Amino acid sequence: MTQKTPFTPNISKVASAIQPFHVMKILAEAKALEVAGQEIIHMEIGEPDFSSLQCINQAANQAVQKGLTHYTPTMGLPALRKKLAHFYQSFYQAEVNPNQVMITPGSSTALQLVLTATLNPGDKVILADPAYPCNRQFVNLLYAELLTIPVSHETQYQLNLEQLKKNWQDGIKVVMVASPSNPTGTVIEQTELVAMAEFLAEKNVYLIVDEIYQGLVYDRPAESVLANQNLPDNVIVINSFSKFFGMTGWRLGWTVAPKHLIPILDRLGQNLFLAAPTPSQYAALRVLDDDALCELEQRRQIFENRRNTLYHAMLNEGFTLKTLPQGAFYLYWDVSDFTDNAQQFCSALLQNTGVAITPGKDFGQFNADTHVRLAYTTDEENLQLAVKKITAFIKTQR
Ligand SMILES: Cc1ncc(COP(=O)(O)O)c(C=O)c1O
Repeated sequence: MTQKTPFTPNISKVASAIQPFHVMKILAEAKALEVAGQEIIHMEIGEPDFSSLQCINQAANQAVQKGLTHYTPTMGLPALRKKLAHFYQSFYQAEVNPNQVMITPGSSTALQLVLTATLNPGDKVILADPAYPCNRQFVNLLYAELLTIPVSHETQYQLNLEQLKKNWQDGIKVVMVASPSNPTGTVIEQTELVAMAEFLAEKNVYLIVDEIYQGLVYDRPAESVLANQNLPDNVIVINSFSKFFGMTGWRLGWTVAPKHLIPILDRLGQNLFLAAPTPSQYAALRVLDDDALCELEQRRQIFENRRNTLYHAMLNEGFTLKTLPQGAFYLYWDVSDFTDNAQQFCSALLQNTGVAITPGKDFGQFNADTHVRLAYTTDEENLQLAVKKITAFIKTQR
């Protein structure tokens, strides 16, 4: 062969239509500025700045040394499923059957699995706008239809029963919520969640409750929807070791699904990923021990202090904040007083001050051009400094 045979790329429609994660653009810009010598305050990326706990690194190393590097069962290590069930009992007073816990490579996979298990092409899925952006793409990949409902500070940027009723139409198969939410850090009260679950069960519709920021809540106890008794069989819970447990790079999450879905999820998992990473599962077994959980509680306290610092620093500068986020590590800020192009605002802020934040566009369309997300994944000193820099930047724009 003298010449390479020409080939015209043949990309699927669904892949071609996939949207980028705009925060990655901000991150790339921030990294480039850092390389050029500028100090950057990173408040754009949604992951804890802490490294994973030493004790879990050791546990994973030991597992690897012992040769525990083979596939686990698709549903996950039985000991880990059991320990998670126990964790639900001791922390959330929730009765969870270990057989209904499935370990997945990150909650991202859990979300894709449960959507694949429940959606046919053309089925409708309700999501809040703003919400976690990848969910929209997961729905698109299954040729299902998105029905986004705009939410504002008036409902704590969350869906509620009234909105479901008002927006109801034929063909809805799944409703997705996250509590606490990304990008707003707000929670849905348990009574509301249960009322939604019951309304949806009557309509034969699943409710996916993403509890991935569970544990990272402030001024209130951490809760799980699973603690509610007589929950209908339409509730699917998603969770992860990424956020509260500080294990983003270990790629480990889980779902607690109704009994009837388990054999289907197992078959899907057998085909789609075989098993979650084995060393990560051994690390997760360790992170559920009391001493590790105590360390994580100290980190939660640090996040709470940061939230308070950021919130009050912004109020002190005279900014209006429409909600006090109760969880996660995000503050969703209405910047309509200063811009109608949040993307440009974030870029200019970064270029001029080195403060990296995320434009609302990543999370939906509703008022996206006038909102930004600030992640308090940096220390209090940096947060204070960032607020000063933001204030100075806004003054220069007037
Ligand atoms: C609300 C929400 N759900 C799911 C995920 C996916 O996380 P992971 O795959 O690391 O568990 C994220 C990540 O930021 C998130 O914010």
